Amino acid sequence: MTVLGIETSCDETAAAVVETTGDPARPWRLRSNVIASQINVHREWGGVVPELASRQHVRDICGVVEQALAKADLDWAGIDALAVTQGPGLVGALLVGVSFAKAAAAALGKPIVAVHHLAGHIESICLEHGEMPLPAAVLVVSGGHTSLYVVPEPGVYQLVGRTRDDAAGEAYDKVARLLGLGYPGGPVVDRLAREGNDRAIDLPRSRFTHADRNATPPDLQAGGHVQVAEFSFSGLKTAVVRLLQQRGVPITTGLTVASNAGPLSHQDVADFCASFQRVVVETLVERTFDAARQLGVRSVGIAGGVSANSRLRADALARGERDGLPVLIPSIALSTDNAAMIAAAALRKLARGESSPLDFNAEASLAIA
Ligand code: KG4
Ligand code: ZN
Repeated sequence: MTVLGIETSCDETAAAVVETTGDPARPWRLRSNVIASQINVHREWGGVVPELASRQHVRDICGVVEQALAKADLDWAGIDALAVTQGPGLVGALLVGVSFAKAAAAALGKPIVAVHHLAGHIESICLEHGEMPLPAAVLVVSGGHTSLYVVPEPGVYQLVGRTRDDAAGEAYDKVARLLGLGYPGGPVVDRLAREGNDRAIDLPRSRFTHADRNATPPDLQAGGHVQVAEFSFSGLKTAVVRLLQQRGVPITTGLTVASNAGPLSHQDVADFCASFQRVVVETLVERTFDAARQLGVRSVGIAGGVSANSRLRADALARGERDGLPVLIPSIALSTDNAAMIAAAALRKLARGESSPLDFNAEASLAIA
């Protein structure tokens, strides 16, 4: 079976072709993966402007889909089903992909599968590495989400932890903006952090005491849901603001980007990046692996844009080695938003005989199912 996936939930217009292999351990193969990034459209505004995103998706979608088909050496007749991100995301942006995919499905008379964006991120791991040893704990860490899921069996995703406030990627983007580093912040902070001292700036780590903290692990086979991990990154961002103010750095709010970090030297900026990154990565790794131990899972997965982070990848692999747990992370190309993961998540549903009626709608907030 060959699926054309389409993803337009934020600032990437993406299309990809994924097919089944017949091998149960490695069920899917990537045939093409095309992404038109809108970074240059949004950069001057310091973040994604929803209306500009929708309009750019309209401009790019036909060419991106045509390229995905051409790179897979297929024409429309070679596609067995359509897959598209239904949500969560920017509703105007989602609508472009949803309308395009529905029109193609109707014209071809082929089934369509509406996919949850985070199910896509989770399945990017399986697309890259084959089936994970289950049950697995999967951390989805992106610009909009920091959520921990347990996957007790293929295609079942149970939320067991999430951020109380900012997502990790959002914190990267905000701190990058405060340091005058532009948008998106993750990759540039990651790069500069390598030149900095990760102990130079004393930044706080969030601590929680809440009812579920010492709760008995949920019975995963019975579909038990319990919050076993909690994240928070807005305090960290506020601490960065306070320290920058103390050093006389002008703090701008809104969408305009500070042109530079004022009195900070290049080394100061690198030290901020390294220290911020250490706290974020240590928090993500500790909470995820503590939860993994509590849940008694057989593997740990990390997916979403922030899983492209070099320190997160290295530290999580090292911690997995120490704890004797396999750690599976997609390649960089499948970590950040792409349509291959959407096609993969659709293949998971199609294998269970599930597809979607043509009257589903784009949903800005959507629960995973
Ligand atoms: O999954 P994604 O592409 O889009 C969403 O679903 O949000 O994630 C985008 C986020 C952005 O916040 C970006 O700054 C962050 O992923 N990101 C990184 C890195 N590359 C992308 N964060 C840290 N280190 C990176 N290397
Ligand atoms: Zn994403």
